[in-house]
Amino acid sequence: MKTTVAVVNSQGADFSLEEIDLADPLADEVLVRIVATGLCHTDIHLKGFLPGEMFPNVFGHEGAGVVEAVGEGVQGIEVGDHVVLSFRSCRECENCKNDLVGYCDSSLLLNYMGMRMDGTTTYSRDGAPVFGNFFGQSSLSQHAIAYADNCVVVDKSVDLTKVAPYGCGFQTGAGTVLNVLKPTPSDSLVVFGCGAVGLTALAAAQHLGLGTLIAVDPLAGRREAAATYGATGVDPTAEADVVAKVKELTGGGASYSIDTTAISAVVKQAQQSLKVRGTLVALGLGPEEYAIDAIDLLQTGKIIRSSIEGDSDPQEMVPRLIALNAAGEFDVDGLIATYPFSEINTAVADVLAGKVVKPVLVW
Ligand SMILES: NC(=O)c1ccc[n+]([C@@H]2O[C@H](COP(=O)([O-])OP(=O)(O)OC[C@H]3O[C@@H](n4cnc5c(N)ncnc54)[C@H](O)[C@@H]3O)[C@@H](O)[C@H]2O)c1
Ligand SMILES: [Zn+2]
Ligand SMILES: [Zn+2]
Repeated sequence: MKTTVAVVNSQGADFSLEEIDLADPLADEVLVRIVATGLCHTDIHLKGFLPGEMFPNVFGHEGAGVVEAVGEGVQGIEVGDHVVLSFRSCRECENCKNDLVGYCDSSLLLNYMGMRMDGTTTYSRDGAPVFGNFFGQSSLSQHAIAYADNCVVVDKSVDLTKVAPYGCGFQTGAGTVLNVLKPTPSDSLVVFGCGAVGLTALAAAQHLGLGTLIAVDPLAGRREAAATYGATGVDPTAEADVVAKVKELTGGGASYSIDTTAISAVVKQAQQSLKVRGTLVALGLGPEEYAIDAIDLLQTGKIIRSSIEGDSDPQEMVPRLIALNAAGEFDVDGLIATYPFSEINTAVADVLAGKVVKPVLVW
């Protein structure tokens, strides 16, 4: 079939709306008519980072839509179902069986290779392959092919525009708090970088009743958004010593810190801002190396770790967050700004300038 996609034709190019070919779903595939797709920083980073031979490429990994066809081998998903799309996992390896699907043995192949496991691409143009299958969806498109493992069926009453980002950015922030750190109300949390990931971490921390929340971000709008979750803002461009400020606000250092900036010097601040035996989760994607304060690390028994998608299993986390949101406990609707797909490049510019937190493209 023909479908319209926001394709990136070469490394670093703008998105271009074009009508190209989408293959029929294979036995294990699901055809989804996309209603809305969130834009994650990872889409923007990788369209400028993947090697030139991986273009043209269709990105997009926060899709939500309506199932139009299912392959004969797919169980549990029916035509007409409303689905939130997330990342893929094999559901059979040891980590998958232990509910750690983000660390699936086949994660790289299933999510990042730009093609199906059999080497074919779902998209093509004039008979030539177009890379896709990004997170098993490539949903910056009017129609996308997904899989039973990354389609989360949601109630038809759920607004797909609001929940599209639950498939990556929102579950990463929330999952880092709910699954990885599991803080108690007496703990403190400092978040460096308050975009979609950082703010949803704060929203989850507010839900758990944490008394001390701190939001470090140079953008006033982001700190204001963080304040709605009860976080005290710190402007790193105005504060001479960010680490000293966090220690002052937490009475000696935070129990937990999260970095979403992927800036080496900031990751080091996030480590230094912790109290003894505190834990830093570095979530950002970007540099090959981070700076670590080795003496501080050795003297304090701190833990520095990362997390894929907040250790979430989307089949569990997406419904959990939808239920929390409906109960008024995970109030993230205000982080979303919708754009028609025709304005996707404006959406990129706006999120990079900090004008909006989570752009969601709608058809
Ligand atoms: N680990 C995962 O599974 C996972 C999942 C989703 C996204 N990510 C990554 O998480 C990161 C955040 O994604 P996002 O969509 O929230 O991005 P974003 O760009 O919206 O947020 C980053 C924030 O960092 C702030 N910042 C910049 N310099 C700073 C400084 N010196 N101190 C403090 N804050 C500063 C920016 O103003 C911005 O608000 C990206 O690197 C993305 O690729 C990782
Ligand atoms: Zn993402
Ligand atoms: Zn697996």
